[in-house]
Amino acid sequence: MADGTPTPPREASTFAPDPVFASNAVATRDLADRAHADRSAFWAEQADACVTWGRRPTETLDWSDPPFARWFADGTLNVAYNCLDRHVEAGHGERVALLWEGEPGDARAVTYAELTADVKRAANLLSSLGVGPGDRVVVYLPQIPEAVVAMLAVARLGAVHSVVFGGFSAESLRARIDDAEATLVITADGGWRKGSVSPLKPAVDAALALGGRSTVENVLVIRRGENAVDWVEGRDLWWHEALEGVEAEHTAEMFEAEHPLFILYTSGTTGRPKGILHTSGGYLTQVAYTHRNVFDLRPETDVYWCTADVGWITGHSYVVYGPLANGATQVLYEGTPDSPGPGRWWDLVEKYGVTILYTAPTAIRGFMKAGREIPQARDLTSLRLLGSVGEPINPEAWLWYREVIGSGTTPIVDTWWQTETGAMMISPLPGVTTTKPGAAQTPVPGIVVDVVDDQGVPVADGESGLLVVTEPWPSMLRGIWGDRDRYVETYWGRFGDRYFAGDGARRDDDGDIWLLGRVDDVMNVSGHRLSTAEIESALVSNPLVAESAVVGAADETTGQAVVAFVVLRDKKRRSVTPEEAVARLRAHVADRIGAIARPRTIVLVDELPKTRSGKIMRRLLRDVAEGREVGDTTTLADSAVMGVITAEMR
Ligand code: PRX
Repeated sequence: MADGTPTPPREASTFAPDPVFASNAVATRDLADRAHADRSAFWAEQADACVTWGRRPTETLDWSDPPFARWFADGTLNVAYNCLDRHVEAGHGERVALLWEGEPGDARAVTYAELTADVKRAANLLSSLGVGPGDRVVVYLPQIPEAVVAMLAVARLGAVHSVVFGGFSAESLRARIDDAEATLVITADGGWRKGSVSPLKPAVDAALALGGRSTVENVLVIRRGENAVDWVEGRDLWWHEALEGVEAEHTAEMFEAEHPLFILYTSGTTGRPKGILHTSGGYLTQVAYTHRNVFDLRPETDVYWCTADVGWITGHSYVVYGPLANGATQVLYEGTPDSPGPGRWWDLVEKYGVTILYTAPTAIRGFMKAGREIPQARDLTSLRLLGSVGEPINPEAWLWYREVIGSGTTPIVDTWWQTETGAMMISPLPGVTTTKPGAAQTPVPGIVVDVVDDQGVPVADGESGLLVVTEPWPSMLRGIWGDRDRYVETYWGRFGDRYFAGDGARRDDDGDIWLLGRVDDVMNVSGHRLSTAEIESALVSNPLVAESAVVGAADETTGQAVVAFVVLRDKKRRSVTPEEAVARLRAHVADRIGAIARPRTIVLVDELPKTRSGKIMRRLLRDVAEGREVGDTTTLADSAVMGVITAEMR
């Protein structure tokens, strides 16, 4: 590795829980025993421990109509009340909820009392704009306290938020607005990223100006970037002006446990993102339960920091709902890790005395590259637990994380889960599990998983297979917005009543689970999910392109990188240089989907490798993109194609 960290053999590097840590840990060994003895009673117990119910549920799980689960169905709750008012009522109003830091260095500490008041006012405002239970509100914001306020205000009213990551383009935003039929968009003029203001409101304007009538009636604009913005009278409202004089009293109405809480779009195997639907009671139970037990949370003393953006599921579950339901104090940071310098994150850890840090392997690998002297120049001794999420963490990165960031002592929890699962599913428990670098290891108590072959038969330990979840879980997705059939087919079509995650996995001889990456056409770039089909359709929408095939190729920093093989249209080919074509196409993808989807490499080819039936053989392209010997080409219609492509790559 860049800084010379040795890679010890895997067997040698297991880490038993520190005895002092283990003897005080929140999660103890008996948690798994209790879950195992009676799963239903276990989840009922967690629902009681984690949630303040309006009406306590008497039913735990209704699985009479699989794959449509109902959890705690006769209970009622208000999710925002659980994240706010109840902490104030319990006397913790003065506790800091958010230690927010803007990228330019401006900072704000927001207490639970203040956050509660802000959310109540925002709820009153939204209500005056006509937002009511079940209505959809799109949130397109930077990482500022108002993003949390907006989400909770929507939830408080029983409306449904659909947060769209600020890096998505106008077109992606519009597709999500239309699919959800949102009536309100909450955005900001702009937010700070990499040392300058990145505009957001112009993207909303552009999205709403695209063809066809949109369902949006109002756009609420938070002032953050102070960049100039256009204004549509009657539609656009400044957040701060609209809030003037709005009441700070608001009584939270109780909603049924299965009331929708949010939609979050994620990439699937087709060109069209899926609106993953989550509901209230089960979701809140599992995010709060895992946040408390997996992170060994002490709300009175911990300073927790999850670096994810609220635009992703990790931001929903482990920035907003889990930590706030647990009354935690957390850092919220607006910017990028390297602004203004490569030590920014470690400055924040030192400044706020962060005790629990949750981030993605791609960030860790980036820090490894930059060198250990950067974090080592800061005091990181406050850290007592580290978490990883979003992609498999390679053992080298795991060991570096523990040694350099965690002073060689902190437990690391490698948490496997998905937008669809809503909350953590597989993770070590820090006071219980002897950890293995690179493995997520054990289902969290209450969760049951298996590794099966193509036919659904469990594979032997040591063999690779497909990960399935064999029992329903409280925070499971309840569907794909507006597409019942796609939900059934995508996740349940393959193995009946077992949930197919789309990931490969292997159990080792100790029964520990190692995640092996996606087995479908979904890529994972810097911990972000992207669909090969979506990028392909963006490419072919450019007049230069006749055909394209996209693959995720292994990348040292980003896990996977987008590599596109493109056949240009004959006529167009003559009008541009290859360099121009590549530059234009990279920009085109960023424009159509967002900068995260911009291909790292575009290879112009004369032909794509296809089977006789016309199917593109991505497996072969992946071999080329990763610099491997090309695999079996006997099923190709034209076996010479791969030789030409390989030559073109060089
Ligand atoms: O392939 C798995 C990978 O990320 C996918 C889910 O992506 P997304 O829905 O965007 O959610 C990311 C944050 C939860 C999974 O199908 N993944 C996530 N966590 C891990 C992981 N792969 C290996 N190890 C993990 N800890």
